[in-house]
Order: sequence, then structure tokens, then C-alpha cells
Amino acid sequence: MCGIVAYLGDKDAYPILINGLRRLEYRGYDSSGVAMMDGGVLNIQKCQGKVSDLEAHVGSQGMKGTAGMGHTRWATHGPPNDINAHPHRSTSGDLALIHNGIIENYAAIKEELMHRGHTFKSDTDTEVLVHLIDDIQRSEGVDIAEAVRLALVSVVGAYAIVVMDRKEPDLLVAARKSSPLVIGIGDHGDHFVASDATPIVEHTKNVVYLEDGEIAVMDRVNGLKVRNIKNQVKTPFIQELEMHLEALEKGGYDHFMLKEIHEQPRSIRDSMRGRLNVTKGEVVLGGIKDHEQKLVNAKRILILGCGTSWHAGLVGEYLFEELARIPVEVEYASEFRYRNPIVGEDDVVIAISQSGETADTMAAIELAKSKGATIFGICNVVGSSIARVTGAGSYTHAGPEIGVASTKAFTAQVTVLTLMALMIGQRKGTINSSQFHRLIHELDSIPDKVQQVLLKEPQIQYIADIYKDAGNALYLGRGYSFPVALEGALKLKEISYIHAEGYPAAEMKHGPIALIDEAMPVFVIATKGASYEKVVSNIQEVKARKGKIIAIVTEGDQVVKGMADHVIEIPDTLDPFVPLLSVVPLQLISYHIAVMRGCNVDQPRNLAKSVTVE
Ligand code: F6R
Repeated sequence: MCGIVAYLGDKDAYPILINGLRRLEYRGYDSSGVAMMDGGVLNIQKCQGKVSDLEAHVGSQGMKGTAGMGHTRWATHGPPNDINAHPHRSTSGDLALIHNGIIENYAAIKEELMHRGHTFKSDTDTEVLVHLIDDIQRSEGVDIAEAVRLALVSVVGAYAIVVMDRKEPDLLVAARKSSPLVIGIGDHGDHFVASDATPIVEHTKNVVYLEDGEIAVMDRVNGLKVRNIKNQVKTPFIQELEMHLEALEKGGYDHFMLKEIHEQPRSIRDSMRGRLNVTKGEVVLGGIKDHEQKLVNAKRILILGCGTSWHAGLVGEYLFEELARIPVEVEYASEFRYRNPIVGEDDVVIAISQSGETADTMAAIELAKSKGATIFGICNVVGSSIARVTGAGSYTHAGPEIGVASTKAFTAQVTVLTLMALMIGQRKGTINSSQFHRLIHELDSIPDKVQQVLLKEPQIQYIADIYKDAGNALYLGRGYSFPVALEGALKLKEISYIHAEGYPAAEMKHGPIALIDEAMPVFVIATKGASYEKVVSNIQEVKARKGKIIAIVTEGDQVVKGMADHVIEIPDTLDPFVPLLSVVPLQLISYHIAVMRGCNVDQPRNLAKSVTVE
């Protein structure tokens, strides 16, 4: 959601903050702002729009000071405008605060503060918090760190915050609950704070991930001190970042999304690295090895996730059922968390999240955990909240995904689920030795086959040009390709704003078929495999109603070629691996349509990369 960056040290803070905001802009991009301490003055500049608008607003001379903080917003309370942008200032004018998350009881606190004479400028929940800290500081006569702690005791909700106090110019206070915060420790006693490591990695590799309920005080003289909301002292655990700076650059591509689509041969390979050993004929997932028996004996697997991660979970359902013969239920985390789900000690839960910060997924994990289930995580962001709370699991190792629309994270998640299903299937004996070897050999060839699919880009661009003005689109698939149809539709709608629906191909006749006319593009995944003939019949049904068919087919297919308006050929593979190939042309088609429509591909309207509010 929102992005937070702060700096305290001996360097000019403004360029560090602006650069950090640019790196964080994928988290929220409706407004941004900076607060800087300069010779006893707390200077705040903020405005609606992108970080580039903020830079233009501040002017080429920048802002002065060696301590400051910046924020890029994804609006929750109040529309995106200059006033609602962060940082927010206290009534006294001494404090400034930036916030990611939601203060749920802000209305009650606001009313109380208004009775005490506070006046408010913005519609945000955040402004309430800075007034509350200010009020406590003055009424209790405590320092800023203690005032922050006391204020947070009365707050309900999720927050990552950084606070600056004009009266204590040599320190920054940061705190978190259910929203991530990372602290970077520089070589020269300087400190960085950020929502994720992306603005920090170019300055230092030494970081501390704050835990829920912790408050950090960074002081020019005393360094970093951490305590929790109960006022207990905590020892910060310093760890080394594995992230590389080049992973955060576009590397010659026009957009991060395109770069990330093209990275998939590498990212899928990285997801398998050290786990799939074709020579030895084994699959080993280090992060779950010690709990392998739990998976092998599982009576049921519950997969939790949101959005694209939920789609990967659906592929997982087919994989576990076919290869490991375990019943699977795939749940939207946001629904699961508010039911009274029947889940207990015999259940294995797999929570999937690229960011590892999705609030709904986090809450669903907590619920399943409280009922005694064993939880495994599949996350991309190393050190993220979900990765830490699940304890056991596997990282996807796809590298940072900056484009808001998820691409390489999906294929990496599916790869890890495939490895898990193969590992359990082999141990359980639900796949025999020759099947297992055939499967792992084929899986090993998938990165090269993805590379071959990427070579189809010029043809995909040509098709995109034909359908770029469509008002609606339908995506159809069966079996393993049904989740891919959902994912294809999601990609198109989120970045090009064309209404799109994904359906199991056979369901079309139960309703969506009414939508089909000569203006309706229908994307069909019609690769050779278990339901090929059935899908061919579904294509006939579309053609009979004059719909336009764009089919993803297996190389050499002549039957569908004879019926479809366009075919995109992908290499032949085994059914369980089709999603890893067939999703790629759908990602590319969405990308090119969105570019042709002039959409902001990496930062689509209303979206944010990591959804830390429910
Ligand atoms: C779609 C997309 C979202 C995310 C969803 C879950 O392209 O990016 O639908 O998949 O918000 O996010 P994570 O995987 O970070 O939990």
C-alpha cells in the first residue's frame, strides 16, 4: 500500500528520500510528501500526484537537512489530494508523521481530541494519530518515543509509522503493527527506515525487520534502540539483505512488467534451483523438509491467497489432487477469515503471497493457526511478515516484482506448488518411479520452453493491436487451464481497464454465452491434453455465435488452427506444466493492449502492489 522511507545521518537526506520514494512508488502513487528537519525548522512539502510531481513542487533546489522522511500514498481515508497527502503535522506544529495502514478507531479518538481543542485539516485517520501523540506528549510531559508508545497503546488497527519531532531533531521514531518496516544500518552510523528493503539496498545490506508491536528509536548519538509497546527492551536482530540493486532497475525494458515477463525463464529456474535434481532423480524443498511427513499424511490441504496468488493456488489444487491424491480446498483469504471455517490439527494450510504482507492472507493464517492447523508459506519477499509468521515454507526466489500486475510471481508460485506436489506424490507413491522421472525431466525443460513462448511476442503484439479497443473479453480454459483463464482475465482488466471474465470453458453455456457476438474476443487455452476435444467443442460454440477466437494451442495443432481467428502456438508439454507456458502469451497480450491504450502499465489506476489493508 503506502510507501515509507526515512533517513537520519550525515548525508543530504532529500536525494535519498526522493530516490527511495521512486523505488517505493509501486506501493502507492496518488500523492506523496517529504518532511525535513532543517536548522530547527520542520519543513513539510507534499502534493497530489506522482513522486515526479512532488519533485516539481519542491523545485530544483530540493530541501535541506540530514534527517527526513517521505511517503507515497494509496488513499484509504479521504481522496487523493494535497491536504490528505502525508506527512501530517500536529497542532503544535512540532511533530510530523507518516503512516501506512488503517487506524480503525480513529473516529472515536478524533472526537475526543476535538473536545480537547484539536482541529483537523485532512480526512485521514493518520492525522488523528499525530494529534494524539502531540496531546500525550504535552499532557504527560514525556519525550517523543514515550508519547508514541502511549498513543499506540490506545490505537486499534494496522500501522507502520515514522515520527519526527522538531524539539528532538537528532532522532527518528518508527513503529509497526501488521504493516512492514525495515531499518537499514549504514556504515557511518546513519539509519534508514522503509516499508521494504528496496530503498535501502543501495545504501546498506545490514537490516533489521521490526516485529509487530515494536518501536524503534534511531538516535545520532545512541544508535538504534528497540522496545515493544509494553515497554520491554528488545535486541535488534541484524541480518544481511540478499537483494541486488540491478533487480530494482528496468534493465533496458520500457516497463517493469515487461522485464518481469521476460525474466520468467530465469525466475522459474531460480524457483527450482537446489530443489529439483534431475540427475539424482529427487525433489527436495529445504524449507519444508522437516515437516514433510505432515504433508504426506495430510487428509486435506487448504490453500489460502488473494488475487493472482489465489489463481496459483487453484493450479495447486489440480496438482495436489492429481500427483499426490490429496483433497484440496482453495479459499480466498478474505472470505476464509470471516467465516467460522472447519479447520483443525489434521489440516495443512498453504498460504501463498508474493509480497508476504497481504492483510487478508495474514489474518487467515492467524485464524488457521489458532485452530491448530500446520501452516506453510509460499512467499516471494524474503523476510516478509507472512514468511516470518508461517515459519515453515518455501520462498519462490523470483526476485523483486515491481510491476503492480503480478507475472513472474505467478509462475514462480506455480513452480513451487509443482515441486511440492511432486515431492509428496513420490513419497506417498501416488506417482510411480517412471512417471516421476518423466515429470521431473519435463519440468526441467520448462524454462527453455518459456523462452520459446517469449519469441512469439511480435505475433502477440499484432493480435493485441486488433483487439486493443474491445470493451469486453472472455477467457476460457478447462482443468489446469481454468485458473490460467482467470489469471489472463485479471491481467487484462487490471492494466488495460477492459472488462474481462475468466470461465471454465464448459460453464460458458450456462450464462456467459449470451454475451458472445462478433465484437467479443474469446481467449481459449486449447492445448493438447485431457480436455482438448471438449475445448474444441466449446470453440465451435463460440464460432457459431460469431465470437472471435484467439487460441493458445500446442505447436503443430491444425484442428484449432482451422477454426480460430488467431492461434498462438506454445511448445508441447505435460498437462500439469501447461499453466507455466500458457499464461505467458496472456501476460504479453494484456501488456501490449495496455500499452497501446496508453495505460500506465506498471502503476494501474486504483491498485497498489502490496495490499496491507483489508
Ligand atoms: C494481480 C495482483 C494481485 C495480487 C494480490 C495478492 O496482478 O498483483 O491480485 O496477486 O493482491 O498479493 P500477494 O501475492 O502479495 O499476497
